[in-house]
Amino acid sequence: MSDTYDVVIIGGGPGGYNCAIRAGQLGLKTAIIEKRGVLGGTCLNVGCIPSKALLHASELFDEANHSFAGLGIKTGKVELDLKQMMSQKDEAVKGLTQGVEFLMKKNKVDYIKGFGKITGQGKVEVDGKTLETKNIVIATGSEPSTLPNIEIDEERVVTNTGAIALKEVPKKLILIGAGVIGLELGSVWSRLGSDVTVVEYLDRIMPGADNEVAKEAQRIFKKQGLDFRLGQKVTGVEKLKSKLKLFMEPAKGGDEEVLEADAVIVAVGRRPYTEGLGLEKVGAKLDKRGFVETDHFKAADGVWAVGDCIHGPMLAHKAEDDGAAVAELIAGKAGHVDYNLVPSVVYTNPEIAWVGKTEEQLKDAGIEYKKGKFPFQANSRARTNHETLGFVKILADAKTDQILGAHMVGVGVGEMIHEICVAMEFGAASEDVARTSHAHPTLSEAVRQAAMGVEGWTMQM
Ligand code: NAI
Repeated sequence: MSDTYDVVIIGGGPGGYNCAIRAGQLGLKTAIIEKRGVLGGTCLNVGCIPSKALLHASELFDEANHSFAGLGIKTGKVELDLKQMMSQKDEAVKGLTQGVEFLMKKNKVDYIKGFGKITGQGKVEVDGKTLETKNIVIATGSEPSTLPNIEIDEERVVTNTGAIALKEVPKKLILIGAGVIGLELGSVWSRLGSDVTVVEYLDRIMPGADNEVAKEAQRIFKKQGLDFRLGQKVTGVEKLKSKLKLFMEPAKGGDEEVLEADAVIVAVGRRPYTEGLGLEKVGAKLDKRGFVETDHFKAADGVWAVGDCIHGPMLAHKAEDDGAAVAELIAGKAGHVDYNLVPSVVYTNPEIAWVGKTEEQLKDAGIEYKKGKFPFQANSRARTNHETLGFVKILADAKTDQILGAHMVGVGVGEMIHEICVAMEFGAASEDVARTSHAHPTLSEAVRQAAMGVEGWTMQM
């Protein structure tokens, strides 16, 4: 039996399902294949969504413990019900993955459960059945990278998958990697009572983030109780009956040190996942690091690739944009994504967000820039909310004033960054933001004041 499609998408994460929705909207006969048994990929099932459910709940727990009394709210003893916290997270995930399945039906996309394998030009096999198609879209995503001498069991030595489902709060928790996952999950478990140490190979946290932002964030997290061991290379984890032993040595050479823990989270990055896909059957190639090589999303004749398995930031919203762009290209429209305008958000408390170039990138490229910076300490809303940590920094071209980047640390900056994304999409100057009315009193006024600061006319400081 054979079906003929315009598009067959392999992988049901944000890259794949957004491609499917857009293809359906554009009238293309579309199928999406997913092996997990449920749509949504890493993001909905074991990544962005469940971690945010735990971040939100643990933040409220922390506030109830530490902030309510100062606001004049008396509570009895605040207790943690971890089982309930986990089940509300599972409910959020279930609702959203079911929602994606509904969107497939709504857009007349066939959802096929199973492992998709390319068997030839325009042919994809799922469980012995061959689908014929004009276009194949590879949206197979990524998987956690691991380190030598560490055996992941997803119970005591875990990746993001196990870290959002621990059955009890580990007394002593070690995070390997001070990247996005390490900081988010480290914050969750620290708030729930773990004693958290973050071990990082580099001598800074959050590679890729603007230096000034990374330093401010590290200072804040340290105050919140996270212990940072920077410049340390983890060489292995040994599992004893009741404890784990983590071995590390200075990255620049030196004596080995052993740390003890009840749980270890490995968050040292992710790698593209394309195992067993049959790319060779259609002449698609992988580069040295395992990413599918593409030219404007095209991997070979009639074969496209999107999301984490190709170059660009490994972020769900970048994958979504890739997916929609490919559906549009297949339908003969202009599909394009500007990776320079994809925002990054770290959902800690306070949040960290940025878009465009960092100061270091501008210096390396020899681009002259001006800088405006505004602390939340001087923002009236932040002060009334007692949430004054962090700042907004805006970088603009020294001659043209065009905004080149924005970097923020502070409560709610994960929402505020989009004002700058839109401004940059329209090629705005910092003065455009500075002269745009912002409601008072709002946290967003800090963005306007930082933009004013580019030309030196910040008013509220
Ligand atoms: P990451 O690339 O952000 O950070 C990994 C860290 O591990 C780096 O700082 C690296 O230097 C360190 N490392 C590597 N080897 C090490 C060793 N042997 N010993 C000590 N440290 C070592 O990767 P992460 O946090 O695992 O996240 C994976 C991907 O998922 C990223 O691309 C991230 O952007 C994405 N993600 C995004 C989220 C968001 O947007 N909020 C949330 C979670 C993940």
